[in-house]
Amino acid sequence: MEESIYGLKRSHRCAELNLSDVGSKVTVMGWAHKRRDLGGVIFVDLRDRSGVLQIVFNSSINQELFDKAESIRSEYVLAVVGEVVKRDPSTVNSKIPTGEIEVMVSELRILSKAETPPIYIEEESDVNETVRLKYRYIDLRRPDMQKNFILRHRVAKIARDYYDENGFLEIETPMLMKSTPEGARDYLVPSRVHPGKFFALPQSPQLYKQLLMVSGFDRYIQITKCFRDEDLRADRQPEFTQIDLEMSFVNIDDVLTVNEGFIKKVFKETLNVDIETPIARLPYQEAMDRFGSDKPDIRFGFELKNISDIVENCGFKVFTEAIKNGGSVRAINAKGCGAKFSRRDIDSLVEFVKIYRAKGMAWIVVEENELKSAITKFLSEDEIKAILDRMEAEPGDLICFSADKNEIVYDSLGNLRLEIARRLDILDKDEFKFVWVTQFPLFEYDEEEKRYVAKHHPFTSPMDEDLQYLDTEPGKVRAKAYDIVLNGVEVGGGSIRIHSQELQSKMFKMLGFSEEQQWERFGFLLEAFKYGTPPHGGMAYGLDRLVMLMAGKSSIRDVIAFPKVQNASCLMSNAPDFVEIKQLKELHIKTEG
Ligand code: AMO
Ligand code: AMP
Repeated sequence: MEESIYGLKRSHRCAELNLSDVGSKVTVMGWAHKRRDLGGVIFVDLRDRSGVLQIVFNSSINQELFDKAESIRSEYVLAVVGEVVKRDPSTVNSKIPTGEIEVMVSELRILSKAETPPIYIEEESDVNETVRLKYRYIDLRRPDMQKNFILRHRVAKIARDYYDENGFLEIETPMLMKSTPEGARDYLVPSRVHPGKFFALPQSPQLYKQLLMVSGFDRYIQITKCFRDEDLRADRQPEFTQIDLEMSFVNIDDVLTVNEGFIKKVFKETLNVDIETPIARLPYQEAMDRFGSDKPDIRFGFELKNISDIVENCGFKVFTEAIKNGGSVRAINAKGCGAKFSRRDIDSLVEFVKIYRAKGMAWIVVEENELKSAITKFLSEDEIKAILDRMEAEPGDLICFSADKNEIVYDSLGNLRLEIARRLDILDKDEFKFVWVTQFPLFEYDEEEKRYVAKHHPFTSPMDEDLQYLDTEPGKVRAKAYDIVLNGVEVGGGSIRIHSQELQSKMFKMLGFSEEQQWERFGFLLEAFKYGTPPHGGMAYGLDRLVMLMAGKSSIRDVIAFPKVQNASCLMSNAPDFVEIKQLKELHIKTEG
């Protein structure tokens, strides 16, 4: 029979006690983490959010209590009253904060019994993730999971405080909104009252926060859920959280500076890590040219170098053809890998780049007196020397080449760089390297739809100096957009917005919306812009991604209490699930089959 806590009041969390409490009578409550019987004495590690505390039952002091303690099993929930005593020096455990003391129990209540849990409550559990997610509420008891959520709380709290101190107001925006095209696929919510009509869950509060600027709130912040029906990955969930903000009367520098202040503060106050500010800014094109990625991991080198000018007229057809077809030949120098990697390792890198549509990967291993390579026979001595010079090659190095359309060259070498770093195990998760990527292209050409699409979103302002190309060469126009990248992960992004109805309407037109479609879909925004709109801009952080990296994890599932799995379902509750026919009828919905 479960006992109640009637008449008891908890005096401390378990790990709040220490030597200074010796002699006091305390009441603690928590889970039985481990029980050890040592002939006449039972030790139980009592665990709560704060940590563990050793409680002791001694048969020579109280036989009845001792007998009751014998029934304690793992994960029973207990309340105990007792006296804090100093541990015998031989039993001191210096690894835990309460290691010098224990509680001599004088009263025990078993508040709840527990079946043997399907997961051990340990720091690093190697239980498979399916089991962890089905029994998520138990998985979350593990100390490292609790640490992640305490950190997440701290980050959100510091964000609220920091932006408040800088004049931002927290304002909520609707969860039921109008579906607007562009961006990812919407999650839809059927309307009961309006047959055949649907709300969409917000992919982000983008339009609302811009309208709040039109309303004169000047600075807005919200920590809010966003919903996107897209394919999941380790750093993508169908619902995730943004720290979303917007500011009026600002240029790019103002937005970046106020956000650098937040990054500095949050890393200092949670991890005691100093982030150097200002954070380096890398124009998009330079990021692509040097790292093959718009979210570069700058913790290590192996940068890309363009060698097209050297090999333009060489005897290797793969190279010359690529250049003739408008592409390029680029290479990275994996320092020291010529000596470290076997022929087989290199072959597996050739296979690796094929994931990114590369047709192959030529390479040169640089040795003291010779070069090992299948392609040097096609190159002149001058060409080889020029390549080695440009790549700053030394004996022991491995040079990897990619020749193709630029897009494929960037993608394959950018990913190859990361793969080599992973194989060398040189990525330190305690090193935090931030970079702003700026000057993104405004448009991206969508080969499938045969039209331009917005690279960031359709509300992003073009750079003033590129406005002249808007009609003639849209592909050349750069945007007032920026992403903040941490260790190769895009943790946030934003832009200065278009605030003129004319330009906004033109932008929609370039994205393929007729005048009529624009007003039908985005009419409320275009209308609002008629009545006095301050220049404005902002950004949003992916809170899950930021906390994931701060916690040293590689999946955002570790920092989301109840995440979904790859196929966008919840293993614990089995959502999504079928509903009653009656519910569907009310919503005027018929399903197939
Ligand atoms: P964006 O779409 O770049 O911008 O989103 C901002 C940040 O949110 C995070 N993020 C995600 N995190 C987890 N799961 C997802 N599916 C997911 N999608 C995005 C990323 C990303 O950098 N309204 C604009 C911001 C603005 O312009 O102010 C927006 O939503 O870390
Ligand atoms: P091949 O002449 O096709 O046997 O290729 C000779 C070398 O060039 C091999 O090491 C291939 O992996 C490499 N290679 C083939 N296509 C490319 C490419 N597009 N870019 C870089 N190297 C390539």
